[in-house]
Amino acid sequence: MSSEDILEPGQYLPAPPVTDRWGIGVIGLGGVARNAHIPSYRALSLRVVAGADLDANARQFAASTFGIDAVAGHEELLANRDVGIVDVALPNTVPVRNQIIHDAIDAGKHVLVQKPFAYDYESALGMVEHAERAGVRLAVNQNGRWNPSYRAASAILASGFLGDPYFISHEMCIDQDSPNRPPWVLNLKRSVIVEYSVHHLDIVRRWAGRTAHSVQAITSRRPGQHSAGDLIATIGLQFDGAVANVVDNTASVGEAPYCRFRIDGADGTINGTVGAWPGGTGRGPGTIEVVRRGAHWVFRPDLAGSWAIDAFGATMSDLINAIEADAEPEASGRDNLETLKTVFAAELSAETGRRVRI
Ligand SMILES: NC(=O)c1ccc[n+]([C@@H]2O[C@H](COP(=O)([O-])OP(=O)(O)OC[C@H]3O[C@@H](n4cnc5c(N)ncnc54)[C@H](O)[C@@H]3O)[C@@H](O)[C@H]2O)c1
Repeated sequence: MSSEDILEPGQYLPAPPVTDRWGIGVIGLGGVARNAHIPSYRALSLRVVAGADLDANARQFAASTFGIDAVAGHEELLANRDVGIVDVALPNTVPVRNQIIHDAIDAGKHVLVQKPFAYDYESALGMVEHAERAGVRLAVNQNGRWNPSYRAASAILASGFLGDPYFISHEMCIDQDSPNRPPWVLNLKRSVIVEYSVHHLDIVRRWAGRTAHSVQAITSRRPGQHSAGDLIATIGLQFDGAVANVVDNTASVGEAPYCRFRIDGADGTINGTVGAWPGGTGRGPGTIEVVRRGAHWVFRPDLAGSWAIDAFGATMSDLINAIEADAEPEASGRDNLETLKTVFAAELSAETGRRVRI
């Protein structure tokens, strides 16, 4: 096999939506909706037909920037017959957030839920089972799945080119501790694991091809940090036949930010970076380099796309295409339950100082 055979763009670029017939209603028009969700849907010519936000400034921004006639309460949006898919971009700290998701299911809407899917396992399971009973599709906006460098690595692993992975390492150092962040972020008592490491625990699980059977985690904080919760985590994961570590320092102010990963398989290695860093722009596909044991070449494909914003359009496309095919979305709520098991086990480990079996 030569290096040219390893990766085609079709293996890692997201599949476009097969139709624009679904009207999208966005509940929560804050930072992530205005900077990523709505621009990514517009880039794919998808139709955002309604919005809801309790905050008048957020509604005004949506109206003036995107021409969305937003309402205050979610009830009116759920009653809108043009809305077929409800996109929930509310923080988990909003007390009625999960109830809104249940109401959307009861209204017969398909639902895309921002990560983290829930702050506890039972709530997530309840939403999954409710959607399954109601016959609607529920997906989680676990958009890292479609970050180009992650997805390229996933495609190469899936091809069997590197053999079974036995070691995976993911490390990120960035600054998420600005005093200008929304109050719900700054006041959050829970640690970095549930809000940020969830992306990396999800992709590591996908690369490993299974859920870890045990986890050991430590969390910490930068002296003088603004945020209430610990912003630093190191998480060790044990799988049958593989180990992984996820290291997240989201309190890393003033130093060059980076985000990188390594996957060692029996027959070779992938080294990768995430395109958002360095530079902090959130754009760019990132990089991978692939080395095969015994081969005298390194494969460095020119990747295309970006995490922000293309991967956000990809999660919505995944849901739409699943609805049309009457199939489970790749990033379904049920699939996400496996990621949440790891997240909550890591939190428990950090709290108790114990290794936790999943
Ligand atoms: N990579 C990613 O996927 C990514 C990136 C950033 C944020 N997020 C997630 O997106 C979610 C939202 O984050 P954000 O940064 O946009 O938060 P934000 O605080 O900027 O926006 C939240 C919005 O929800 C509105 N809101 C609150 N309660 C409401 C209610 N009952 N009905 C209608 N609107 C209500 C607020 O007025 C605000 O405009 C969080 O769960 C966060 O973890 C994901």
